[in-house]
Amino acid sequence: MIPENVRSEVDNLRERIRHHNRLYYTEDRIEISDGEYDALMRRLIELESRWPGLASEDSPTLRVGSQPLPRFPSILWDPPMLSLDNVFSAEEFAEFDRRVRQELNLENDPVYSVEPKLDGLAVAIIYENGVLQRAGTRGDGSAGEDVTPNVRTLRSIPLKLTSTSPVDLVVRGEVIFRKNDFEKMNRERESNGQDTFVNPRNAASGSLRQLDSRITSSRPLSFIAYGTAHWPAGISSQSSLFNYLEGLGIPVNPHNIVCRGVDEVESAYHTLEQKRDEFSWEIDGVVIKLNEASLQAEMGTLSRFPRWAAAWKFRAEEAVTRLIDIEIQVGRTGKLTPVAKLEPVFVGGVTVSSATLHNEDELRRKDARPGDMVIVRRAGDVIPEVVRSMGNSEGERGKRFEFPRICPVCGGPVAREEDASAHRCMNPSCPARLRESLFHWGARDALDIEGLGSKLAEQLADRNMVKDVADLYSLTRLQLVSLDRMGEKSADNLLSELQRSLRTNLQKFVAGLGIPGVGRAVSGLLSERYADLNELMDAPVDEFLAIPGVGPVLADNLYRFFHEKITRDVVNRLLSAGFSPQGNSTGDGEKPLLGLTVVFTGGISLSRSDARIMAEKAGAKVTGSVSEKTDIVVAGPGAGEKLQKARKLGLEIISEDEFMRRIK
Ligand code: IVH
Repeated sequence: MIPENVRSEVDNLRERIRHHNRLYYTEDRIEISDGEYDALMRRLIELESRWPGLASEDSPTLRVGSQPLPRFPSILWDPPMLSLDNVFSAEEFAEFDRRVRQELNLENDPVYSVEPKLDGLAVAIIYENGVLQRAGTRGDGSAGEDVTPNVRTLRSIPLKLTSTSPVDLVVRGEVIFRKNDFEKMNRERESNGQDTFVNPRNAASGSLRQLDSRITSSRPLSFIAYGTAHWPAGISSQSSLFNYLEGLGIPVNPHNIVCRGVDEVESAYHTLEQKRDEFSWEIDGVVIKLNEASLQAEMGTLSRFPRWAAAWKFRAEEAVTRLIDIEIQVGRTGKLTPVAKLEPVFVGGVTVSSATLHNEDELRRKDARPGDMVIVRRAGDVIPEVVRSMGNSEGERGKRFEFPRICPVCGGPVAREEDASAHRCMNPSCPARLRESLFHWGARDALDIEGLGSKLAEQLADRNMVKDVADLYSLTRLQLVSLDRMGEKSADNLLSELQRSLRTNLQKFVAGLGIPGVGRAVSGLLSERYADLNELMDAPVDEFLAIPGVGPVLADNLYRFFHEKITRDVVNRLLSAGFSPQGNSTGDGEKPLLGLTVVFTGGISLSRSDARIMAEKAGAKVTGSVSEKTDIVVAGPGAGEKLQKARKLGLEIISEDEFMRRIK
């Protein structure tokens, strides 16, 4: 029996969390700090795992994501998800309006719904009986990718509609990043040394189309609805549809405007264009739709566009100029960015003489070459970018730009990151990277050296006192006290911290090296596989590839890091300084789950990747689906099909707590 007070606390927590989700994602307001929100969520997870009988298909705890998929299943759209035809000026819109009035034989000006055109990724969400069942991307309009587990993680999307009567509905809308969420995420990625996203639209698409929904869950995506596949009963206009959706708890755009006739539409267009910088999300124009359902039906659709709607984009702040040359800049994290040097051109209110080409993939896609005429765009405060090359009509085109395989600043090796298009200089003593790598070495997940913060790292690098992390171990007391804000006591403390760090283990040591893509989790896998650093350094690339969780790019980065002269040298000097980091691979450790196949399902408080690593460490094999071959199913609240199947097969089902007990 579940005590009544637990039941009501859970109801109360769920309602409070939903309330804060709604405030943030649909009303743009916050009432509590991130910390308080996390505390509510943690408490709910705790209660749900202690009382599995409280599981519910719409609990906010279900938004944590689940096991990665091998690929996306496809999902069919009928009627298809259409695109929109464009108008480019007031005259063209007047022409559209004339056609509408003529064809519909209207005596009065028609009413239009003028909506901000959101710049994200189109998705449709299927609700049956008011409960979210499936969701997918637009794809080619007739078939998209089924991204249900990912869409479930978006906090602005209700898992259950607020309705007293059962509702079957297919909601269509756009998944977007709010500008502040986008900037915050990019700042965090930058400080973690991860590649940043080019713009909110790319970030939204990249984040939603992840096979591992736990990644989507960690990205603050939003959703705004702009329509439905079919008109709900009793709803006969676009504007009443928005009210109806809002009533069901589905976020709609608060800036939609109802207008009569071309003049009102034109002024709504200008109003929204002027206000675009104030909005929480990016818009790139307006969408104008006939407001009445019956008139839409009468106009009908062509194969790709409806004849009852048009998109009218805002003037892009773009200009054409000549690309003089392409240079590579090396950033603070060692990232190599191709930059176009341009003949100066006036765009978006300023003169621009260089613009980013982002990365090698973008550069290839745009195929911009020296001598080409290129289109340059500057949106708001963002860095100007080259949108497209128009080639060179006046003569032969220049050579295709070859992305460098060595760092143009220091000549060090360059590696491409797994899952990212970024290239990074791997030389830890590259001036562009040095500060970052010193700071990273001292971080908590790495060598955890108290006193080695960003300020100290900066001073050591800028004064040329060290050229890589190995040099930290030959710093003298005299050198240290010469630094700003470094007294004798702090110098002594730092020296003893450095001495202490020599006794670290293989996981922390490898995490500290800053090998692209190799953080705490991957270095943990390596320290499970190798007994010590020498064994790791001499491993062939195939051996890395054989480690579950290590893909080809990562394997290559590891191999290169330990074989390039510059990086191997640093590691050897660290060994001479007194390091001898040991791994956990003794081969005879206790393996309580040896040979067993384990499946995790439902909401458990561990992240799925931590759960997997812990189970594997205990000797188990972890799979995503339940079958006769499964030995143990670890089930948390909200577990559904897999749990049922496990029961049917008579498998052993245990709770997360029991799992923790067994692996201890
Ligand atoms: S209506 C049948 N409304 O723009 C009409 N689309 O360029 C199709 N979009 O695929 C959709 N804001 O992803 C509609 N208020 C809005 C929109 C909108 C953005 C996107 C949508 C569509 C694309 C077409």
